[in-house]
Amino acid sequence: TSNKMWGGRFAAGPDAIMEAINASISFDKRMAAQDIAGSRAHAAMLAATGIISDNDAQAIREGLLTILSEIEEGRFEFSAALEDIHMNVEARLKEVIGEPAGRLHTGRSRNDQVATDFKLWTRDQLDAFDAGLVALIHALLGQAEAGADWVMPGFTHLQTAQPVTWGHHMMAYVEMFGRDLSRVRDARARMNESPLGAAALAGTSFPIDREMTAQALGFDRPAANSLDAVSDRDFALEFLSCASICAMHLSRFAEELVIWSSAQFRFVALSDRFSTGSSIMPQKKNPDAAELIRAKVGRIFGANTALMMVMKGLPLAYSKDMQEDKEQVFDAADNLMLALAAMEGMVRDMTAQRDNLSAAAGSGFSTATDLADWLVRVLGLPFRDAHHVTGTLVGIAEKAGCDLPDLTLAQMQAVHPGITQGVFDVLGVENSVNSRMSYGGTAPAQVRDQIDRWKEKLA
Ligand code: ARG
Repeated sequence: TSNKMWGGRFAAGPDAIMEAINASISFDKRMAAQDIAGSRAHAAMLAATGIISDNDAQAIREGLLTILSEIEEGRFEFSAALEDIHMNVEARLKEVIGEPAGRLHTGRSRNDQVATDFKLWTRDQLDAFDAGLVALIHALLGQAEAGADWVMPGFTHLQTAQPVTWGHHMMAYVEMFGRDLSRVRDARARMNESPLGAAALAGTSFPIDREMTAQALGFDRPAANSLDAVSDRDFALEFLSCASICAMHLSRFAEELVIWSSAQFRFVALSDRFSTGSSIMPQKKNPDAAELIRAKVGRIFGANTALMMVMKGLPLAYSKDMQEDKEQVFDAADNLMLALAAMEGMVRDMTAQRDNLSAAAGSGFSTATDLADWLVRVLGLPFRDAHHVTGTLVGIAEKAGCDLPDLTLAQMQAVHPGITQGVFDVLGVENSVNSRMSYGGTAPAQVRDQIDRWKEKLA
């Protein structure tokens, strides 16, 4: 038998393979709540504009609520023969309320319906994304505040570069996740236009009120072009792009946590709650959450690339290719939310190993730049000459197996006779970080200013 929703012109039903490739119900049932909200708004509008009767709209709206509870309570039987969530709900509505159900689809198409449902779903995810980022930023601010003046090595090329503070390093991630947050908020504002009422592609001859349905569904306005409204998946791509960049940030941080929690670094201790053991090596405590967060970026990038490829050659307006949008976004959203929550938990729970950080901060001639700056500031050497003198002193210390502050004044004066005892004031790592008072620098006072700024911003 032919499809009861659109089978008028068909003598035979679809082949089993046709049904298998065509059906999306196995995944788009996740949009059931959005589908029902959209249909309820549409029905109310159809009555308000006199397109259907108030009685029919009332029956439709109540019937839809009944179906929503059936779905929420797991009592709803989804059917692949009915393809997708839209037709599953409508067919059930017919069973529940009878004839008026057939009036719901007036002035509407599955094309504007699916765009509306998917936008509503994605908008909820942007809100969850926003909340996840805010929670993570708060966790980072907590770490930064506790260790605003704890010294640690700063790296370039993963080689010791100059001492920084733990707080400064944490605040670097606050800036990154803060930009992610602003991207999410931009994307949400841009996507918040209602496709509903675009109908199949050209709009409708019924006197619908698109402002009314837009408002009922929390959109700022109806989308201004019906062809674009049903063809646009930019909102999904923007979600995936924001998710990809954020996942990249999460992955960089996760990589640091993997390195920092190793026996060779011992910069942080991860909590038991966010670590796992080995089935063979009893001593092991593995940073699995960090590793999995590092890996999640792969599938999230993959989703972004996949949907870009699906969309890139599609002529206007709707093509069935676009049904492939949802699984990418669903999977990316699930994994992003999980990664954000796991990172937040790890950050809240982890303990910076202050003594190890501090011991490492002074190693690797990390205050060589301070020495060169001192030669410029106090002795008036051109920076290039100061760089050379300092390099010679680093060579001597390296040969002697000691650090710069361990050299004697005589050893220093042998390289440059102008050097005085005062040089030792800048060689300690604490002195080094305290002197980095330029705006955005690592000095604890600067770090505290940035913590305050972010707290105010998020308040
Ligand atoms: N299941 C479809 C999708 O996800 C719904 C839209 C179908 N529209 C159509 N004209 N066949 O995209």
